[in-house]
Amino acid sequence: MKEELKKITKELQDQLEKVADISALNNFEKKYLGKKGELMLLLKKIGNLPETERKEIGQLANEIKTEIKRKLIETKEKLGGNIGAADKFFDATLPGTKIESGHLHPLTLVQRDLEKIFSSMGFMILDGPELESDYYNFEALNIPKSHPARDMQDTFYIEHKNKQGEYDMVMRTHTSNVQVRAMEKYGAPLRGVALGKIYRNEATDQRHEHTFYQIEGLMVDKDISIAHLMAVLREMFKRLFDQSANIRLRPGFFSFVEPGVEVEMSCLLCEGKGCPVCKRTGWVEMLGAGLVHPNVLRAGGIDPKKYSGFAFGTGIERLAMMKYGIDDIRLFNSGDLSFLSQFDS
Ligand code: DAH
Repeated sequence: MKEELKKITKELQDQLEKVADISALNNFEKKYLGKKGELMLLLKKIGNLPETERKEIGQLANEIKTEIKRKLIETKEKLGGNIGAADKFFDATLPGTKIESGHLHPLTLVQRDLEKIFSSMGFMILDGPELESDYYNFEALNIPKSHPARDMQDTFYIEHKNKQGEYDMVMRTHTSNVQVRAMEKYGAPLRGVALGKIYRNEATDQRHEHTFYQIEGLMVDKDISIAHLMAVLREMFKRLFDQSANIRLRPGFFSFVEPGVEVEMSCLLCEGKGCPVCKRTGWVEMLGAGLVHPNVLRAGGIDPKKYSGFAFGTGIERLAMMKYGIDDIRLFNSGDLSFLSQFDS
């Protein structure tokens, strides 16, 4: 029996090699593997063998059958025949194909973090227009007509003039435009943050974009001082960056606050030791802030004798760059998937 099996295997293999087209292959299949095929008839005989031989021969026969079937499918595929899904080898242990799905942009992630942090401290999420009047973007914020910030260099003016023939509409240059709008709408006391897109007529480089995002914070109440500002900012940094940071203030000038300050944070990357990101100083400039100027409170209909407030503003890109260790602001709008896919959570 063993000999017979070996013989037919050899014959089958020789025959299969000679098969040159699909119809010859079909004939081959019928002749040997069909119900009354030669191999099948031989296999049937195994049942009649004595118990002792049956096991060994049966196993051998099965191996031969599997091997021939595999070769048959291989030849069929080679000849361009259709092989059914059931014939194909399927390895259930292979890892599946990953389905690519979209995910949030890093700036959206940081925006959402900030909204969560400030909402939990009782701040409203404020909104304001990107196409803004000269009044809310500058005038109401105590930025006089002659102020350099109004220079055509920095501001995108819109082709629209008032009765005096002056350009009176701009693409907002900062989210501070929301300050007086919020005061008019909600009065004091008031706690809010505004996040959104702003525009600057500026050349682009590693640290500058002409269109970017800012967050503006405003808190007006009785006896608000710089201490409140520092406490709120400390909490923001701690929760945004998942670690405590030191804060220090330097005097800074912004028309809409008095006193105005530049807020610096101890560098998270080198923990204050000094590295290229903090220009070896251990400190990074993070935002502009101060106590709301009495003129601005008055413009918002709030009595500066009764109320005081703090305000702050900064670029969301700057926060995201610090949080994720990104060294070029242009990456955010590059559409570069190798950059963006790192934020797939
Ligand atoms: N608006 C400023 C800018 O665009 C940032 C800023 C500075 C906002 C001081 C403030 C502030 O609210 O008090 O650079």
